[in-house]
Amino acid sequence: MSFRALYIDQRSGRDADATHTVELRTVDDDALEPAEVEVEVEVEYSALNYKDGLALAGRPGVVRRTPIIPGIDLVGRVRASADPRFAPGDRVVLNGDGLGETRDGGLAERGAVRAEPLVAVPDAFTLHQAAAIGTAGFTAMLAVLALERGGVTPSSGDVLVTGAAGGVGSVAIAVLARLGYSVTASTGRGDTEADYLRALGAAAILNRADFAEPGRPLQKARWAGAVDVVGGVTLANVLAQTSQRGVVACCGLTGGSELPTTVMPFILRGVTLAGIDSVAAPRASRVEAWDRLARDLDPRLLEAMTSTIGLADAPAAAERILAGQIRGRTVVDVHR
Ligand SMILES: NC(=O)c1ccc[n+]([C@@H]2O[C@H](COP(=O)([O-])OP(=O)(O)OC[C@H]3O[C@@H](n4cnc5c(N)ncnc54)[C@H](OP(=O)(O)O)[C@@H]3O)[C@@H](O)[C@H]2O)c1
Repeated sequence: MSFRALYIDQRSGRDADATHTVELRTVDDDALEPAEVEVEVEVEYSALNYKDGLALAGRPGVVRRTPIIPGIDLVGRVRASADPRFAPGDRVVLNGDGLGETRDGGLAERGAVRAEPLVAVPDAFTLHQAAAIGTAGFTAMLAVLALERGGVTPSSGDVLVTGAAGGVGSVAIAVLARLGYSVTASTGRGDTEADYLRALGAAAILNRADFAEPGRPLQKARWAGAVDVVGGVTLANVLAQTSQRGVVACCGLTGGSELPTTVMPFILRGVTLAGIDSVAAPRASRVEAWDRLARDLDPRLLEAMTSTIGLADAPAAAERILAGQIRGRTVVDVHR
């Protein structure tokens, strides 16, 4: 048997020596790395996350093996399992765990993954919906859980979501609004995406430019909590505007990886900066987050935030996600 897969072939080096190609190949069953195979999966869907955009566009820092099948999300049905927790036919989802970075990922019709981080798709979701949630939605839920653990409740005050029209932002808004939080969305696309963000549940919309210039170490306290995917000066301003005992979940770096802040929000307002790491999340966190997604995310909202493309379309879509042009989530139907 053979199957189709995208392959990235990437060699670092100085200028002319560096190469990067992305190719749709048809390969034999034994092409998948056998060493760590615990569960073989008939893949139905993957998704395009910001990190997949970086990998497919040849940006450094994601791909750590070559050649490699990209795709940090993998959704499908178990073909065979060496682990008693899974049986053929089970509906499963895997987010991160090195997929598309150090192990072959989900942009293929076949997958071979570790059992420990593999999660059963909740009954509430179709496989397509699980892929629509993907790493972005899983990360958004981890961020919401971090706010809850820090004691932020709907009665604590307004919560802010940055990068609102992107994948993590869209799911964070939908979940927080359904839980009863008053959500303010920060976006650079208010002119085109305001109706979309309101439909997800945003009560107010701000221009992301309001957070883009360096500000004072402590500013007017506005947020009981925040989910930030932008980082950089934006995150510094969010921290400076967070209220007493507020929690800011730090998820991403679309605006930069530096953090030009001071200790003031932490020592004068007791603000918590909660780091979110979806890739190496332990099994218990994965199961908890997917259980909570099944309870707290309205699957009907996924339709509004999701578009679906085929395997060969992924490289072009990668450029669009890096340019901040994609609304919500992009599912990749690997059989299309
Ligand atoms: N920690 C983790 O485990 C984890 C997991 C998933 C994702 N992430 C990270 O989270 C971030 C978002 O991922 P995603 O999949 O949601 O990506 P996405 O769908 O591309 O969304 C990112 C959003 O960030 C905003 N943005 C883009 N460029 C920006 C800039 N230069 N300045 C300010 N805002 C900008 C845009 O929102 P608007 O158009 O609304 O302004 C964009 O839609 C990425 O950095 C990703 O690597 C981390």
